[in-house]
Amino acid sequence: MTDPERLETIMSRYEGVAADLIPVLQDIQDDCNYLPKDALKIVAGRLNVPLTQVYSVATFYKGFSLEPRGVHHVQVCRGTTCHLHGGTRLQEGVIRRLGIEPGQTTPDGQFSLEQVKCVGKCGAAPVLAVGEDYFGEVGVDGVTKILRTYRKPK
Ligand code: FES
Repeated sequence: MTDPERLETIMSRYEGVAADLIPVLQDIQDDCNYLPKDALKIVAGRLNVPLTQVYSVATFYKGFSLEPRGVHHVQVCRGTTCHLHGGTRLQEGVIRRLGIEPGQTTPDGQFSLEQVKCVGKCGAAPVLAVGEDYFGEVGVDGVTKILRTYRKPK
């Protein structure tokens, strides 16, 4: 469910035309860590864009998610090169450390986990990404150290 005031603040930054669709969705994604369904309906109406088109854009770009994501989106590369260089052990280490499976979010909402195909950094395999940050040649011991830097203190 979207906070109407926050959505209104986002909409007020734009002219309310169809060309605003992607930046509006980016702002909502940044604000909520996902695109709530009720927000998509409101955006469609306000920008006068068919809801099917809004969903089309929302599902096309990997940066958008229709499901709630953690504050930090963790991606483990499962491409061939990473697989050959310890990608399976890396993924097992991340699963153990976070206590969630790919597609899930930690109960505190801090991390979500996704396994992805090659992220284009094969020379650094195996690769782990947290948000926009990429880490190469990550061993199981490195997982804890990396994730610790992102966890907010309680
Ligand atoms: S296979 Fe992992 S970065 Fe290419």
